[in-house]
Amino acid sequence: MTSPAETPLDGVTRPVVLLTRRLPDAVEARASRDYRAVLNPEDRAFSGTEIAARAAEAGADAVLCCAGDRLDAAAIAALPERVRVLATFSVGTDHIDLEAARARGLTVTNTPDVLTDATADIALLLLLGAARRASEGERMIRANAWTGWTPTQLMGTHVGAKRLGIVGMGRIGQAVAARARAFGMAIHYSNRRRLPPELELGATYHADPEAMLAVCDVLSLHFPSTAETRHWLNAERIGRLPPGAILVNTARGSVVDDDAVIDALKNGRLAAVGLDVFENEPNLHSGYRDLPNTFLLPHLGSATVETRNAMGFRALDNIDAVMASRPAPDRVA
Ligand code: DGY
Repeated sequence: MTSPAETPLDGVTRPVVLLTRRLPDAVEARASRDYRAVLNPEDRAFSGTEIAARAAEAGADAVLCCAGDRLDAAAIAALPERVRVLATFSVGTDHIDLEAARARGLTVTNTPDVLTDATADIALLLLLGAARRASEGERMIRANAWTGWTPTQLMGTHVGAKRLGIVGMGRIGQAVAARARAFGMAIHYSNRRRLPPELELGATYHADPEAMLAVCDVLSLHFPSTAETRHWLNAERIGRLPPGAILVNTARGSVVDDDAVIDALKNGRLAAVGLDVFENEPNLHSGYRDLPNTFLLPHLGSATVETRNAMGFRALDNIDAVMASRPAPDRVA
């Protein structure tokens, strides 16, 4: 752990911010300019209770945490009283016990908006990669097993004119719809609330996601992981999809039942999947690796320099607000 400077340069003691992981250079530079920042240059992953212990050791006023940090009720309880804000470098907050944070009077913030486009781009990459058998093609080339063009080689599914069903039509769902329209896909969606026409843009609304499944040639998931949504896509719901449907998941791995998805990939109920997120990352279900019809990425949804910088700046904006006793712009608890 690199320690914050002991002697303030300007005679004013700056608050201490603990960064739980290594962050992009520009973000660490701003954190170090504005705060006594405690960095993690080795990028070690710490458990929630270790983060709390580090926060105590550093005398932290704020913690800038990440999606992989499990901040459960025990970790929140162990955070020193001095910590006023937990700013997560993610839009998802499923790794934080928000109830425990509220009970302790801890402000929690996230980073919405800035990762919408990057995540939607990855959803389309997954959609196309799964539909067009990109992993199989890439592996063939890398294994030096390509013997040349043939009329029947690695024929995939044409996405144009297919029906894309989006479950969860928030910012990212809408951005995925915009991109898929450009590929000629017909958009169906299910959301707690129907969107106004200017946002719906001709998409077909289904109040009941169950009822939408039958028309989803491609199903893309965009809702948060909660106790209620755990394993939402199970064998029963997969059975409602048209045979040979494609699944795309950029939300959280826990919203799908891996065993059911893998069975469906084996028996052809699902033609292919494109997955960026997994239950128990990084220890994903090994069945995905063994199948040819899986296009798999290691949680890259927001992984562009521009996006990760913007996420870090957004997290720091929130910390700045709390440290200045202003309302945090992205407060979730
Ligand atoms: C998020 O922001 O929740 C992503 O999953 C991490 O980029």
